[in-house]
Amino acid sequence: MHITHHPVLKKDERKEIKFFFNDEPLKAKVGQSIAAALMANGIKKFGVSRKLHQSRGLFCASGRCYSCFLTVDGLDHVLSCSTLVEEGMEVYSNLSDPDVRRGKNEN
Ligand code: FES
Repeated sequence: MHITHHPVLKKDERKEIKFFFNDEPLKAKVGQSIAAALMANGIKKFGVSRKLHQSRGLFCASGRCYSCFLTVDGLDHVLSCSTLVEEGMEVYSNLSDPDVRRGKNEN
């Protein structure tokens, strides 16, 4: 959902682009973060937590909590709140820990 009418803000005339989330084509505005673009498309669940498998998504929106990480164009653990969406970008839910956090006995 985007704001289309506002008494103070000007009409948003930014160019519309297309990107993909879990292979589903979505629209975004140039200059939006990936997280904002997902939220604007009604997607609030970006993945699930590692231990309890609870929904994970936008939390701090400032690059501090790592709740919003996704796989973007093949790169794991990208913070979607701090990364701008681009034309044709392929974004996927990321359900795993970074390799550096895995213990020796885990796969
Ligand atoms: S929402 Fe906290 S780092 Fe992105």
